[in-house]
Amino acid sequence: MILGHEKVPFLHLPTPLEYLPTMSEKLGINLYIKRDDLTGLGMGGNKLRKLEYLLYDAQQKGCTMLLTMGGAQTNHGRLTAAVAAKYGLRCAIICVDEYPGEVSANILLDRMMGADVILRKDDGSASESEQYRRLSALVRQKYEAEGEKIYEIPIGGSNELGILGYYECAMELTEQVRALEAAGTLRARDGKAENVRVITTAGSLGTYMGLFCGLKNEGSPLQLTGVAISPSAAEGGPRCLRYFDRVKAFYGTGAHGLNAPALANVTENDFHIETDYTWGAYNNPVPEVRQAMYDMAGSEAIILDPCYTGKTFCAIRTMISEGKIQSGDTIVFLHTGGSPGINTPFHRREMERELEGGVTVL
Ligand SMILES: Cc1ncc(COP(=O)(O)O)c(C=O)c1O
Repeated sequence: MILGHEKVPFLHLPTPLEYLPTMSEKLGINLYIKRDDLTGLGMGGNKLRKLEYLLYDAQQKGCTMLLTMGGAQTNHGRLTAAVAAKYGLRCAIICVDEYPGEVSANILLDRMMGADVILRKDDGSASESEQYRRLSALVRQKYEAEGEKIYEIPIGGSNELGILGYYECAMELTEQVRALEAAGTLRARDGKAENVRVITTAGSLGTYMGLFCGLKNEGSPLQLTGVAISPSAAEGGPRCLRYFDRVKAFYGTGAHGLNAPALANVTENDFHIETDYTWGAYNNPVPEVRQAMYDMAGSEAIILDPCYTGKTFCAIRTMISEGKIQSGDTIVFLHTGGSPGINTPFHRREMERELEGGVTVL
């Protein structure tokens, strides 16, 4: 139980914390990776930790169907489809987005796991959130008429309940780092956990917020940085504070709440979101990001994705060259999953073009 809330435990936890020797050597830092891409169902990823708590809530409410939303290649949608398939619920994913022209990448996986995918192009008639609200109302009508009781999950699973997955991950990771510290094998300045920085992708912010609350409320020594991968996430501190205030109001400051002194007077400045590495848009193809992905794949056999983890790893490399991360620093890079995104048509075509030179047909 976390902050007084139960979950349906379907993950293989703890996920491994691995040291990356070749990449550490190349970058001149100590680089660990937390393998939340290995969370099991539906090809894995960060959203499953949130969904353990959201599924419990849906079951308690007697819901028969999960309805969620996101871009056409939403990993969160795919993992919601996975959980629905596993637990005998129907699932629909709504996207205010263009149809990519083929059933591939996450959409293919959504369909394999039995979810319906409903896309409607952004028509500019209202804000994106208003268009989602209208589309959701339309889709709900259809399924409710078929007798379904719908549990709606917001974009990225990032609501008050959704932070619990990464609150729990903060505790899990702290325990893993502390175990290395106690054994004298932590590769960090003075062998100390306080000299370790966790770096995660920041999108809809549920992952970052869960880690922030978990680390602070549980008194963890680990530091935390989020890397914004889209202009909306790049709003940074003010957006974090609005989310945090909602979270704090939801859990309160009682015995099962956010009661640590470190969370008493949180301001915008308490959140550390790097906002310089979005490349100007969400899920855009960026040659430098692909280079970072190829380097990780070729050095450590770890597959990153072009929308989230590739951008974040590219940002880590840039932060090293800019001196924001210094030689000898210790970073835990949270691998939040997303590898099906490499098959998104407009990303895949760029990679095919760059890599086909090494394919020889005799
Ligand atoms: C692979 C991957 N990494 C990171 C994120 C960002 O997580 P959050 O939305 O909780 O900020 C997402 C969100 O969709 C994702 O799919």
